[in-house]
Amino acid sequence: MDLGVNIDHIAVLREARMVNNPNFIDALSICERAGAKQITIHLREDRRHVQDKDVVDVLAHSVLPVNLECAIEPTIIDIVCNLKPHRATLVPEKREEVTTEGGLAISTDNTRLIDAIEKLHDSEVDVSLFIDPTVEAVETSKELGVEWIELHTGRYSNLYGMLYSNLPHTKHAVKEFDLSRKELKEQLDKELEQLKEISVLAKELGLKVAAGHGLNYQNVKDIVEIEQIEELNIGQSIVARSIFSGLYKAIIDMKELVNG
Ligand code: PXP
Repeated sequence: MDLGVNIDHIAVLREARMVNNPNFIDALSICERAGAKQITIHLREDRRHVQDKDVVDVLAHSVLPVNLECAIEPTIIDIVCNLKPHRATLVPEKREEVTTEGGLAISTDNTRLIDAIEKLHDSEVDVSLFIDPTVEAVETSKELGVEWIELHTGRYSNLYGMLYSNLPHTKHAVKEFDLSRKELKEQLDKELEQLKEISVLAKELGLKVAAGHGLNYQNVKDIVEIEQIEELNIGQSIVARSIFSGLYKAIIDMKELVNG
């Protein structure tokens, strides 16, 4: 199974000061040396982290394929078609959300979606749809003629977090706060089973299967058992962990300068 690293959260830190530190581009070679197979970034309509220039720079400097997440908003799709990443993952987007909260609402009569897919294909960009793990969403994805689907693991991650650490991956999107531990476990098992069944179905239909959202160093182990999933896109937990892998050395480096 391949790992795609979502580096948006490096840009979140940079945007907090609006200076070029940390330099987004420095992440690319580290991802490559560490064995990642893909760089994933999300050009949000509100540009809260990744900026247009970042996408240009990432595409110019990344030796790894670039998976660009975006909404099906026509002006964004035009930008993506011009920039030609290796793959575009179409995601739902709400300005008020903290992170992508659910899968794309897809149907075969959604003209915005159909136009977006057509334009991207005309520009020779592979298309992935970020969907909830349901039979209907996978079958519709097949009908829409995309190459990839990415299964939204957010609900699985929230249930896992609430059951084992009392911490969903994002509090913002959680609807299951009132469930007992027994109910949480039942829901978690059901969600995992659903992810497995849907991955099998997608593969049978000839779709390539990715998954992601809220995956971390605890909950990823059950997901990697699903052999039909070819790729995981993981961001927040990797960037969060890198702070503590690097904080000690960063303090030592500064202390040397301060103490001489
Ligand atoms: N996949 C998609 C489609 C996403 O929108 C995101 C979040 O930007 C991720 C994967 C990565 O999620 P996380 O940062 O929670 O690992």
